[in-house]
Amino acid sequence: MRRPYAAAALLLSLITAAATQALDVHSLASRAASTPDVVRGVNLGGWLVSEEWITPSLYQSTGASDEWHLCNTLGNKKCSSKLKTHWKTFYTRDDFVDIKAAGLNAVRIPVGYWAVDRRVWEPYVNGQYPYLIRAVQWAKELGLSVLIDLHGAPGSQNGQDNSGLIGPVLFPSNSSNAARSLYVLNNLTQEFSNAIYGGAVTGIELLNEPRLGDNSTDDFSMDELKDFYTDATKGVRAANDADTINVTIHDAFYGPQYWADYDALQTTSSAPADLLTLDTHQYYAFNDLANLPHTQILASVCNISQLLKQPVSTSGIPYTLVGEFSLETGSAPTTTSSDQNNEDDQARRTWFRLLFEAQIAAYSPNGPGQSSIGWFFWTWKTEYEIDTWSYRRGVAHQYIPADVSNASDLVYTVLENGCIDLSADGLDNYTAPASVAAASGRIGGGGSGLLAGLLPVVVGLMSLGWVF
Ligand SMILES: *[C@@H]1O[C@H](CO)[C@@H](O)[C@H](O)[C@H]1NC(C)=O
Ligand SMILES: *[C@@H]1O[C@H](CO)[C@@H](O)[C@H](O)[C@H]1NC(C)=O
Ligand SMILES: *[C@@H]1O[C@H](CO)[C@@H](O)[C@H](O)[C@H]1NC(C)=O
Ligand SMILES: *[C@@H]1O[C@H](CO)[C@@H](O)[C@H](O)[C@H]1NC(C)=O
Ligand SMILES: *[C@@H]1O[C@H](CO)[C@@H](O)[C@H](O)[C@H]1NC(C)=O
Ligand SMILES: *[C@@H]1O[C@H](CO)[C@@H](O)[C@H](O)[C@H]1NC(C)=O
Ligand SMILES: *[C@@H]1O[C@H](CO)[C@@H](O)[C@H](O)[C@H]1NC(C)=O
Repeated sequence: MRRPYAAAALLLSLITAAATQALDVHSLASRAASTPDVVRGVNLGGWLVSEEWITPSLYQSTGASDEWHLCNTLGNKKCSSKLKTHWKTFYTRDDFVDIKAAGLNAVRIPVGYWAVDRRVWEPYVNGQYPYLIRAVQWAKELGLSVLIDLHGAPGSQNGQDNSGLIGPVLFPSNSSNAARSLYVLNNLTQEFSNAIYGGAVTGIELLNEPRLGDNSTDDFSMDELKDFYTDATKGVRAANDADTINVTIHDAFYGPQYWADYDALQTTSSAPADLLTLDTHQYYAFNDLANLPHTQILASVCNISQLLKQPVSTSGIPYTLVGEFSLETGSAPTTTSSDQNNEDDQARRTWFRLLFEAQIAAYSPNGPGQSSIGWFFWTWKTEYEIDTWSYRRGVAHQYIPADVSNASDLVYTVLENGCIDLSADGLDNYTAPASVAAASGRIGGGGSGLLAGLLPVVVGLMSLGWVF
């Protein structure tokens, strides 16, 4: 999940609208029937790579804001035991069962390089790997597919908390950083192409959200990124003879069009590589895309829909996953973002439903051969269930459909171009319930913000589902 910087404007300017004429209503039934393989997923954010805003209690009273500094402050022993508890409890089999029950069929799992290749001088701790294995096994049992994503690379590829280390982008400053990343990707590919995992891992993402600079000498450049993508693609392909695992590359915020006809192994390609998927993140919570009027947000979502609904054979845009998106349209999340939750606000929940359905329609194919192949919401849950970032809260409070795989659970009309019918008639189709049902299931009444963590035990009991 990115922090703001200027490439957002670039992304917008790269999006071109296809014809906006085709406004025929695509029936819900044919939408479902024509798209059996669409990837409908959630991220398991803040788990094997922790993020302060997702689980504030882990960071409380440490003064740290990223995992490197968390462990640097606590020391190896204390950090190990704290993180082990977090890995064991933040995601359990119950979460996978709930994800499946919500009609989702995929999870994206961020991992840091230090789960595989930690050096003694690095403050990070490891021990994540058995939890990753167990997660893949649960996914296999439940029929979910897994995209494993290298979220943190040595030196940091974006300098943000989500990479494990806030600061300068040092990934390209020392070639050992790329070499170590290749080693990690090779390990993940070898491990998870093993038949015992039943093909559950369908993709490995080479590098999350690389942050490229503006050509000054010590910046991470596009050429350096592409060299890395080439070496890593060779590595993954060599370690996966059976070709069961796709290589996923992040678009580095250049937008899907930039990657038209991309083949990391062949510079003069006139079509995208086989077994390649592109990951583009679509957020309205950062920088120049934050706090836009709703109509502008929906227009932008509609733009990307039309771009990705072109056939790959025409646009050359690789098969594309929107690997991260959310319902936040105000500002970047913090440890106290859940203070803004407001269950009583019916209009807010109506808007969330519209924005959710507009986005999944935009990021899914509605016919064969299109660039869109699906999406992953960021994220399944947060410690204090921030309403715009927690998928499971959306399900519990009905602004996300109970079963997103069931077309009859969707309430808005989608036009043939993949955009929601925003005419008065179309919008009249739905208003959120006046109030939401009392806390239920595994989502308790859960307090808001960091202070809620200090509230009496009852809140904890509620969030464990013991309210009944
Ligand atoms: C959509 O694309 C068109 C054509 O490129 C562009 O003029 C417009 O600004 C875009 N709108 C949004 C909201 O992205
Ligand atoms: C690159 O990093 C390695 C450790 O990963 C270190 O041993 C080496 O000295 C570094 N090289 C430079 C030029 O900084
Ligand atoms: C990958 O690394 C993990 C953690 O160090 C190790 O347990 C596992 O055996 C390795 N797998 C392969 C195939 O090298
Ligand atoms: C970086 O330099 C290349 C080659 O000179 C140029 O094509 C590209 O537009 C530059 N990129 C930026 C972001 O300035
Ligand atoms: C894997 O990549 C191919 C493109 O080569 C694409 O058709 C397919 O949908 C991808 N599978 C997943 C699960 O992303
Ligand atoms: C889809 O949802 C409808 C309405 O909620 C329900 O009647 C139907 O049984 C569901 N279909 C499946 C396959 O679950
Ligand atoms: C939803 O809106 C469409 C217009 O897009 C209209 O044709 C349809 O009848 C509406 N459906 C319901 C259930 O109100």
